[in-house]
Amino acid sequence: MELLPPYVEADLTAPLRDYWLKREGQHVKDVYAGVRIQKMPEDLRVYEHLLWISRADTVIELGTNHGGSALWFRDRLTTMATTYGRIEEPRVISIDRDHTKAVEAIGAAPPGITLLTADLQDEDLPDRVSALLAPGARCLVVEDTLHAYETTKTALDRFARFVPVGGFFVVEDGIVDVPDLRPDKDLPRGVLPAIHDFLAANPDFRVRRDLERYGLTCFPGGFLERVNALDGREAAS
Ligand SMILES: C[S@@+](CC[C@H](N)C(=O)[O-])C[C@H]1O[C@@H](n2cnc3c(N)ncnc32)[C@H](O)[C@@H]1O
Repeated sequence: MELLPPYVEADLTAPLRDYWLKREGQHVKDVYAGVRIQKMPEDLRVYEHLLWISRADTVIELGTNHGGSALWFRDRLTTMATTYGRIEEPRVISIDRDHTKAVEAIGAAPPGITLLTADLQDEDLPDRVSALLAPGARCLVVEDTLHAYETTKTALDRFARFVPVGGFFVVEDGIVDVPDLRPDKDLPRGVLPAIHDFLAANPDFRVRRDLERYGLTCFPGGFLERVNALDGREAAS
């Protein structure tokens, strides 16, 4: 296991797209605390902003893989709680249909993290997640599974309920639907159409393109904020 990501050089005479493709290839081989993490530093910085401004105390992560991102979210929430007193009970619930790699890398029960092994499409999954939440939990939901239409739409339809007003649902890797950003012809598609269809039926969410602060992001159009609770309820736990 490499402890550093692959080296990327910024050639200022080459097209920006060349740099983008190198960075995209790098981000799937990055490392956090000795464990593979698949997020760009720029996107991790945006996550820090979202956690801070929304006072999220719970991250519901759909797609664990090796578990580096679950560790990263756990550590950011723990710092918000213990160093800054911004939240009280940090918690990460990370879901994957196969936790073999994660258990090998971070153990079956890492402190502050619940690994919930299930398929995103399982109908009882939202209720199983709900049963794990502390009363009044303020959740940030991260969709990072297959990046196809069906999985993205299912994630939004079934897990948006956990996001409170002023909270965020982040749909990762909309780059699969942007020709200039798409890195591999064999990847699935349908993330951005799924967001579009979800928003058409859920005007209580809006896209925050202004949060793509660093120019480079793997999540174009994927930062969704809940702006009000149309039916008068706060987020359901
Ligand atoms: C891109 S990786 C997650 C990366 C991780 N969040 C990170 O940033 O390091 C996608 C994961 O989603 C899982 N996955 C794909 N389809 C799924 C489904 N239908 N239900 C649950 N997990 C799924 C895969 O097993 C894989 O581990």
